[in-house]
Amino acid sequence: MKDSIRHLIQQALARLTAEGVLPEGANPTIQVENTRDKTHGDFASNVAMMLAKPAGMKPRDLAQKLIEALPADPGVSKVEIAGPGFLNFFQNSAALAQRLDAALADTHLSVSKTGSKQRVVVDLSSPNLAKEMHVGHLRSTIIGDAVARVLEFLGDEVIRQNHVGDWGTQFGMLLAYVKEQPKGFDSPELADLEGFYRAAKQRFDESPEFAERARQLVVELQAGDAECLRLWKQFNELSLSHAQQVYDRLNVRLTPDDVKGESAYNAELADIVASLKAKGLLSESNGAQCVFLDEFKNAEGNPLPVIVQKAGGGYLYATTDLASMRYRSQQLKADRALYFVDQRQALHFQMTFEVARRAGFVGSDMQLEHMGFGTMNGADGRPFKTRDGGTVKLVDLLDEAEQRAYSLVKGKNPDLEEGELRQIARAVGIGAVKYADLSKHRTSDYSFNFEHMLSFEGNTAPYLLYAYTRVASVFRKLGTGMDGLNGEINMEAEQEQALGAKLAQFAEVLNGVAEKGVPHLLCSYLYDLAGLFSSFYEHCPILGAESETVKQSRLRLAALTGKTLKQGLSLLGLETLERM
Ligand code: ARG
Repeated sequence: MKDSIRHLIQQALARLTAEGVLPEGANPTIQVENTRDKTHGDFASNVAMMLAKPAGMKPRDLAQKLIEALPADPGVSKVEIAGPGFLNFFQNSAALAQRLDAALADTHLSVSKTGSKQRVVVDLSSPNLAKEMHVGHLRSTIIGDAVARVLEFLGDEVIRQNHVGDWGTQFGMLLAYVKEQPKGFDSPELADLEGFYRAAKQRFDESPEFAERARQLVVELQAGDAECLRLWKQFNELSLSHAQQVYDRLNVRLTPDDVKGESAYNAELADIVASLKAKGLLSESNGAQCVFLDEFKNAEGNPLPVIVQKAGGGYLYATTDLASMRYRSQQLKADRALYFVDQRQALHFQMTFEVARRAGFVGSDMQLEHMGFGTMNGADGRPFKTRDGGTVKLVDLLDEAEQRAYSLVKGKNPDLEEGELRQIARAVGIGAVKYADLSKHRTSDYSFNFEHMLSFEGNTAPYLLYAYTRVASVFRKLGTGMDGLNGEINMEAEQEQALGAKLAQFAEVLNGVAEKGVPHLLCSYLYDLAGLFSSFYEHCPILGAESETVKQSRLRLAALTGKTLKQGLSLLGLETLERM
């Protein structure tokens, strides 16, 4: 709807320009917002206020001219001027009802993409395999997954890339340590990768002779020594299977096929450096090969380098990323590549994106976007740590979430049988952890707090999952599903209109999530929707409606709410329950 209003305004502006009321070349971005208070219409635009000055008119006078120039549209019942010169659009309730009926009949809920479909690479999760996945990997994994799901739902072709850190100096240390274990890879300590890493690190720090061996092994590994490669591969497989368990448990759509880590680009790194040299972009600094970018300067005002090869010949994180950018552009032919990586790597991406462009690794037809995210802190706002100051393993966090959800659900529903209880606890516990994260703005830091996220009140997973079960229970009582209803939607009561207007915004919200990579928009939307359903449910009896026609209309609104909630939660990667 916003888009069609924007289009109407555009036509009016063109007309006023042709008539000489507006100066040529005034091309404002036309803002159309949803109004909060529906007595002021459903949508508002400040376009008259933006253009009053260049037109040399009072905003309200220009607003009047615009209203006269607006083409008629069946979706708009009237337009009014408000306050200093806002244009308020009232949606035609019959047209809205028609759109909602159409959405209800469509398995895709009438959602489509604004703009053309694209091929999009989503770089997500991408943990370093030397260690076990810890809380720091939660965000890159689930935000990336949610955005990927939304893009897919809108019809984009999504290629997920798990750019794991599977190459580099830590592996020498781990190989040296594996070699010391009497049982090698059958060593029981390896079940706890994190502990294994710590033990290896301790050996490394304490024994210079071990450290020397570790360094030697890296050199051998990178030179392609068969035995080193075999051990390294075994280690990565083990680590990846740990990660895969976490993905499955988190209900994240990642498979071993999506893994294309740093090592996968190994054979191309020399060519990356050679290409940079051929383009005249390379300079040597202290024996290292660098690209200096004038627009990035350090505190002293000197240009910062992107180092692509160390003095000893080794390649770096940036080199691998340049190779992966080239691959994503030239082999995968992506229109967009989105990087869900910690905000603290912002400079790394700004610089490597720029180098990739100048070197021609990525054409101007591909967008590169770093979707940075803030830090997840502990409940006290301080860095998230175990009691003894270690990093918190993601599996431990998920165990605790499920455990807490289990007690909570059991407390509310002591009669549930064990199997169902476990299932609900899983959906609520894992859902709570994910939702708490997804509902925050991507770029802000936030405090991880079990009590908040497991509350049945507020913008939380339990609240939304419960809201869905309420809708489901209507249809259980009725003895039918949400499909195959009769009649049509007709919104009379204020609560029906508010719910209907919200339902009609689903597509627009999803387009926003896809454009900006911010799933919190979808969370807020679902939260608002659940709230509006609640007041509708309270004020507008469904099964006890005054007539069969009204009952059918309300059932249809309820069904569309149920489907939208379920679809929305599923796009966030949350499992819904029929009852809880
Ligand atoms: N492995 C890196 C880390 O844990 C993240 C990689 C992100 N993706 C990328 N293409 N650089 O910090």
